[in-house]
Amino acid sequence: MPAAQLMTDNGNHCFEHIFSSFIDGVILVSPEGFVQQANPAVEEMFHTPIESLMGRAVSELFPDQPEISIKIREALTRGTSFRDIRCRGIRKSSQTSFPTSVTVSPYMNNGVPAQGAVLHVRDMSLFKELEESSKRMDELSHLGALSLGMAHEIKNPLVAISGSAQLLRKRLPDQHHKFLDVVIKESERINRMMERMLDFARPAPLELKLLNIHQILEEILLLEKKDGPEDIQFVQNYDPSLPQVEGDEDQLKQVFLNLVRNALEAMPKGGTLELMTRIHSNYTVKTEANPNSRQAILVEIRDTGPGIREEDLKDIFTPFHTTKSKGSGLGLPLSLKIVENHKGKMKVQSEPGKGTQVQVFLPVELG
Ligand SMILES: Nc1ncnc2c1ncn2[C@@H]1O[C@H](COP(=O)(O)OP(=O)(O)OP(=O)(O)O)[C@@H](O)[C@H]1O
Ligand SMILES: [Mg+2]
Repeated sequence: MPAAQLMTDNGNHCFEHIFSSFIDGVILVSPEGFVQQANPAVEEMFHTPIESLMGRAVSELFPDQPEISIKIREALTRGTSFRDIRCRGIRKSSQTSFPTSVTVSPYMNNGVPAQGAVLHVRDMSLFKELEESSKRMDELSHLGALSLGMAHEIKNPLVAISGSAQLLRKRLPDQHHKFLDVVIKESERINRMMERMLDFARPAPLELKLLNIHQILEEILLLEKKDGPEDIQFVQNYDPSLPQVEGDEDQLKQVFLNLVRNALEAMPKGGTLELMTRIHSNYTVKTEANPNSRQAILVEIRDTGPGIREEDLKDIFTPFHTTKSKGSGLGLPLSLKIVENHKGKMKVQSEPGKGTQVQVFLPVELG
């Protein structure tokens, strides 16, 4: 067996290869708390070349988090080990942080303990994303069942209310019309909302076919340009080599219509709406059932509206969360549900004052 030969012939060397091949980070910390060695995964995780990590205090990789520094110190001084410390690693170049799970073990040299410490660092970004998306899906399906029952119950009396109001309007003199108009108009609004709730709650099986996403986007633009706000500049930045994707035409149209409408509604005084498409080859939503990365397309919708405050971003996929007087707050959760049924992903980034960018990733084949 070649693998067994490698181990016996060249044991040390082989360990080096194991560390360089490891997709998790391994850092050797000196007794003084400085980085002494690190494997390539660390370089990739922290976006910093190994050479510039050498000799730096390890706490700089996890700044402002005393818990991890204390635990490393304890490993160095007392030889204690710690598992699964949750903290955030920082990428100096971009000033962004990412969730990590760190295990700290005392480094033993020839059986002499505490000659330093070994850190095993796992990037938890993907795990967190999957955790959050499955939590969101759970919430959505609970709410779906509840909405379905409620919408049915509300729709029937609503028809009676609005019908009676219309009848009364015909019989009463003009001066009473304005009150009844409010009843009729608001009933219509509730009805539209109920329709949207039913859309959201009904399990809609996917009718799959091969779709040209550009065609779908163009049809939506055509519609929206006609009755959309003025002073909007539309920019289409399409990748002509974009492959067709497998999907349900009506449902995906609804997704992009919701997103384009949100963007336009965010720019009542004008602005730029940009639609961008491209192939996304290292798509990494992996599930147990589908462990392989698949080719995906990315559709990006950008606007130059007011953006979304950081504290509101976490709520935008929550059903009924709306900041609009006439909004139902179901556009984004419904879109997310459809995209996830297509085994895709949605990401929203926004900077107050600059605008919002919504990304939709869709696998080319659902398979
Ligand atoms: N492009 C955007 N720019 C700024 N805020 C946005 C944007 N897209 C969504 N939002 C915020 O997210 C909220 C939820 O959006 P969502 O589409 O789910 O509901 P809505 O637009 O309020 O109502 P509707 O059900 O009619 O779509 C919005 O009310 C708005 O506050
Ligand atoms: Mg909306």
